[in-house]
Amino acid sequence: MRLRPLFTKPLAAYHASIFILLIATGAIISLLTNEYIILGSILIVEYVGLLIIMLHVYEKYMKPIKKTTKAVNEFLKGNYRTRIQHTESGNIGELNNKLNELARNLSEFRMQEQMKEEQLSTVIDNTQSGLVLLDGKGYIHLVNRKFLSMFGGESGDYRSFLYYDVLENETIHETVQQTFLYERNIIESFTQVIDVDKRYIEIIGAPIFNERNMLKGAVLLLYDITHLKKLELMRKDFVANVSHELKTPITSITGFAETLLNGAMNDKKTLHSFLTIIYDESYRLQGLIEDLLTLSELEKDNFKLAKTTVHMDKLTGEIIPIIQHRAEQKGINMEMNVQEGITLQGDRERIKQVVINLLTNAINYSPENGEVILTVFDETEYVHVSVSDNGIGIDQAVIPRIFERFYRVDKARSRNTGGTGLGLAIVKHIVEVHDGHISVESEPDNGSTFHVYLPK
Ligand SMILES: Nc1ncnc2c1ncn2[C@@H]1O[C@H](COP(=O)(O)OP(=O)(O)O)[C@@H](O)[C@H]1O
Ligand SMILES: [Mg+2]
Repeated sequence: MRLRPLFTKPLAAYHASIFILLIATGAIISLLTNEYIILGSILIVEYVGLLIIMLHVYEKYMKPIKKTTKAVNEFLKGNYRTRIQHTESGNIGELNNKLNELARNLSEFRMQEQMKEEQLSTVIDNTQSGLVLLDGKGYIHLVNRKFLSMFGGESGDYRSFLYYDVLENETIHETVQQTFLYERNIIESFTQVIDVDKRYIEIIGAPIFNERNMLKGAVLLLYDITHLKKLELMRKDFVANVSHELKTPITSITGFAETLLNGAMNDKKTLHSFLTIIYDESYRLQGLIEDLLTLSELEKDNFKLAKTTVHMDKLTGEIIPIIQHRAEQKGINMEMNVQEGITLQGDRERIKQVVINLLTNAINYSPENGEVILTVFDETEYVHVSVSDNGIGIDQAVIPRIFERFYRVDKARSRNTGGTGLGLAIVKHIVEVHDGHISVESEPDNGSTFHVYLPK
């Protein structure tokens, strides 16, 4: 038996009570008898007996309850890993077992909650749209990583602040106000300029309701729709370009036909010259429409190449008569350097178009008596087709642009040679659907070489 418990508070109180009890008993007995030895013995026996009972009660009930209380205090602090170590049986033992089980359940429950929370925050942080959670008073409770990457700062710069104190954008303010006012989804958009970069952002405000259908707050979702806007702009540009390109020849045809009908046709020379213009313009129109159809065909979702084994020497042989006439007109010397027996798997007609377009350009953008060389070589995995000329060349800065639709370095020159501005766009498209690539070497006034690599 250890002595220390004797000095604890409850024990001291018990001790005092025993003392009072003994004095009271002593006083009562002393009234009945004068035998002090008997009286003393009774009191000592009584004292020892009570002391033993008291220590037993303390060890058996008080100490375990104190231990249990300490553990419960740990549970209250959230330390669910704490366990009550005990050897007691009976009621207290059972209570301790139940409490240990409760702690185990709580610990498991908390682990599951933590996991759920982590999963949710992973999802929120990895969504590709910015997300802001507001309460009914307009305080920000959460911003995700994407939002921070769009607007800068850290989450501490936003959390627990009123949205209008930390977000400057007027459209965001309006979206929040309208979401709260109309209690329905509100969609708006705005532009954001970072350095020189202009970004288009779509914002959706969605109200959040509680179980009693009362407005509790709102979620703001912010999407970067720059790529969609760019596509839309490109489409608009394309439509504008096509309309413009179609309008020029048609205006010319209508004008000359009208002049003829108004009497000019009676003059044989004028008739011939105007009809020639009308013919040339119709021809240009036809070329343009054919190129447009080719492009739209290539861009169809379900576009499929009609792949066969293409014999490159045969293919170039078929091209020469088509090109020769043009080259001769300009006194251009054509040189063919085609390795024999090269084959590749591809769409024959499309590849033919690639070579024709490149050769046509080489002739068109070369001076009279220039030189154009076509070479076709085997390069293990690829067939390398190159077309060189000693013509006007292209400025380094605009080389990436010449593959854009309708882009021409010199509009008038291109038009005079019957160009549509679509030739290289078609070439690039065909090469890419064959999983090949194209590159250009060029210098102004020093000619150009176009290299096309087609996988075999
Ligand atoms: N071999 C070349 N030499 C110089 N410039 C060229 C050459 N090929 C193409 N270009 C430039 O690229 C532009 C786009 O070519 P392309 O798409 O074939 O259209 P087009 O020939 O109808 O104008 C041409 O207008 C021209 O400015
Ligand atoms: Mg061309």
